[in-house]
Amino acid sequence: MVNQPKIKMKVVGSDRDAGEVANVIVDPVTKFLSHIVVRTEDGGQRVVPLDQIADVSEGVRLRCSAVEVSGYPPLCRDDYTTVHEQELAGLEARLDVDPGHALLPVPEGDRDIPRRSFFTKFTIAINAVLALPLAYPVFKFLIHPMYGPFDNTWVTLARTDQFQDVDTPKSYRFRKTLKEGYLERTFDKSHWAMKASPETLEAIYQGKDVEFRDKNGDVYWVNRRNVPYVVFSGKCPHLGCGYKWRSTKKYAMAFLCPCHLSIYDIAGTVLTGPAPRPLDVLPTRVTPGGDIETVDIEFKAGLVGRVRVI
Ligand code: FES
Repeated sequence: MVNQPKIKMKVVGSDRDAGEVANVIVDPVTKFLSHIVVRTEDGGQRVVPLDQIADVSEGVRLRCSAVEVSGYPPLCRDDYTTVHEQELAGLEARLDVDPGHALLPVPEGDRDIPRRSFFTKFTIAINAVLALPLAYPVFKFLIHPMYGPFDNTWVTLARTDQFQDVDTPKSYRFRKTLKEGYLERTFDKSHWAMKASPETLEAIYQGKDVEFRDKNGDVYWVNRRNVPYVVFSGKCPHLGCGYKWRSTKKYAMAFLCPCHLSIYDIAGTVLTGPAPRPLDVLPTRVTPGGDIETVDIEFKAGLVGRVRVI
């Protein structure tokens, strides 16, 4: 049995210097050294079997030539783990190796894990790249309320000749189309329109015109307090449910939201329930031809103040 090679020992081939010992490799079954790792002059690391060692004294003398050392397999570091102090205690006592200098081969079955995890990550990355064109419009739609410009398009909701009586609100449905990238969604929405009596107008506007502002703060429409046609958003300001105009036990007629039983009077004032604010009045204009038009805007539910989100 030759002396055991040590780290940094000079390695000499049968013809010339081959390099130095960079590591030693322990056989996990026999618990003896099985290979040395020779760092060659070009910086490469070659795994040389122990039976190529002729002698170990001041250095390691090999049976093979320095050229043949270059023909041994390069060290694939991922295929080995470093043996630390605790693990050394479990190896044969006669194994004369300093902690950190010896390598143990990773079991065959575990070797591909780094490669497997690489391919897993690679696959995820490829899928993410492929999914991006699909996800972008959805993401853009989701953040639209925060970052997109408001849509101030006027929508025809009703006609003035549909209101013979004052303070008789009617729900009107309309189709709304949202276009995001190449995705287009069309869905039904509804708002309430009515011809308000002077008393109801006064209760709604309380002597003041109502301004509607764009995202940049510019006023894009003013509801004049003397225009009798009024549109209320179809969404309850509490949590956004739809509501009805109907009689209740306590009120002859009122707007009733069935979700949490908020009740509003004809002017949208909260009579009872958890609603934090009156019904939302929307921009309303009457065309010369008698169409009642509105801008389909939405305010954040659950707040006392009105914060436009769409
Ligand atoms: S959503 Fe209308 S009362 Fe809650």
